[in-house]
Amino acid sequence: MKDQSTLTRRSFIRTTAAGSVALGWLGAGRAPGAYAAEAAKPALLGGAPAHQGGWARWPQWLEAWEPELLKVWRSGKWFRGSAEHIAEFERRYAQMLGAKRCLATASGTTALTVSLHVMDVDAGDEVIVSPYTFIASYNAILTTKALPVFADTDPATLTMDPASIESRITERTRAIMPVHIFGMPCEMDAINAVARKHKLAVIEDACQAWLAEYQGRKCGTIGDLGCFSFQESKHLPSGEGGAIAGMSDELIDKCDSFHNCGRATGTNKGNGYFTRGNNYRMTQAQAVILMQQFDKLVKETEIRRTNADYLSANLGKIPGITPVRLPANSRPAWHLYAFRYDASRFNGLSRDKFARALSAEGVPCGSIYHEQYHDGLLDEAIASRGFKRLWSADRLKAYRDSFQELKGNKQVCDTTVAFTQNLLLSDRRGMDDILEGIAKIQASSAELAKA
Ligand SMILES: Cc1ncc(COP(=O)(O)O)c(C=O)c1O
Repeated sequence: MKDQSTLTRRSFIRTTAAGSVALGWLGAGRAPGAYAAEAAKPALLGGAPAHQGGWARWPQWLEAWEPELLKVWRSGKWFRGSAEHIAEFERRYAQMLGAKRCLATASGTTALTVSLHVMDVDAGDEVIVSPYTFIASYNAILTTKALPVFADTDPATLTMDPASIESRITERTRAIMPVHIFGMPCEMDAINAVARKHKLAVIEDACQAWLAEYQGRKCGTIGDLGCFSFQESKHLPSGEGGAIAGMSDELIDKCDSFHNCGRATGTNKGNGYFTRGNNYRMTQAQAVILMQQFDKLVKETEIRRTNADYLSANLGKIPGITPVRLPANSRPAWHLYAFRYDASRFNGLSRDKFARALSAEGVPCGSIYHEQYHDGLLDEAIASRGFKRLWSADRLKAYRDSFQELKGNKQVCDTTVAFTQNLLLSDRRGMDDILEGIAKIQASSAELAKA
């Protein structure tokens, strides 16, 4: 139950000038109370937080999962080749996605690395990738000794702007790697069309997009290969872990070989000996933990969607807050819930201070990704002996200079605010608390900006 001060704060906001910003979200069950300016004071200025009691913990563990896991440990059959759990996981995960096949891997990063190799990305090649992503998307390409060439980010969607791909294609480009960031599907029809026109592979980084859908298809099954992560923070976690989904036996068999020390597998008989490969295998215990969470994933995905839809329908009513635009006929997984913040509509309150103020309201949030291409990782790569051997000095200079062209990405990095998926597992009151916290900050933004 909420205490009376919470109701009072909500009622106060409803009646203030700033309250006109957005109070459509206050549900019918919200009783009006006495209006007290005190109650609407932002938490950062000494008021009571909009949300109290915290949020769902993540990751979650159920005792009911323990017997199956113990059986694995007690069996002593832990490695991929010793038992059937991983193969069963692969069958069932493929089925959930509507993919023909799936291969379990040690992580999302290794899933990307394997996919790049199998799609014939080699040393000296170029891959067009979204810059607005976790650094593993860059690194999987760099460790393949290929160059991550950045498409721009569409500020409205936070994903790869398909219109920015073609101008970045060179004779070295082999693949496009769209990233369904925060579980929001990229505009895959447009991306696939450019790829087909230029005969490029499409490797989806779906590491944050379990069960996300685009035009009725699951993310990770729309390009040539799709990669998933099951790291601890993810919606389907097993500490570490990953998977590659695909529609082609041939491609997944090649992935299988490469991730299993190059062993010949299925259609990939090779020369009967080992091909090039590495050890990127999952363990049996990971597969068992993952399968136990399948039903939970499906149920929680729906809860996140309901809550995210509610937020998106109401956040746009607050001046200076813009919910993300989604592709038509798409259903995100909402690994993070992000929106764009316009400080000029908040009396100049900086984005960082806004995030601090909202966190003080009991809604932990932050700015997430920055312009990581300025951090030195790429400078280090292009200054390396190997990269200097593989590209001309002119190409590497032009590559370095091209970061300045990423105007959409800069805007996204400078203005996005997001919070993590566990907040979306709350009930409607939790979502109202988030909306209220933002509305309070909006109402007191001038004061907060000066504080
Ligand atoms: C977009 C994206 N790509 C790749 C990865 C790498 O996955 P992993 O941490 O399982 O290696 C992650 C993980 O956070 C991610 O968010």
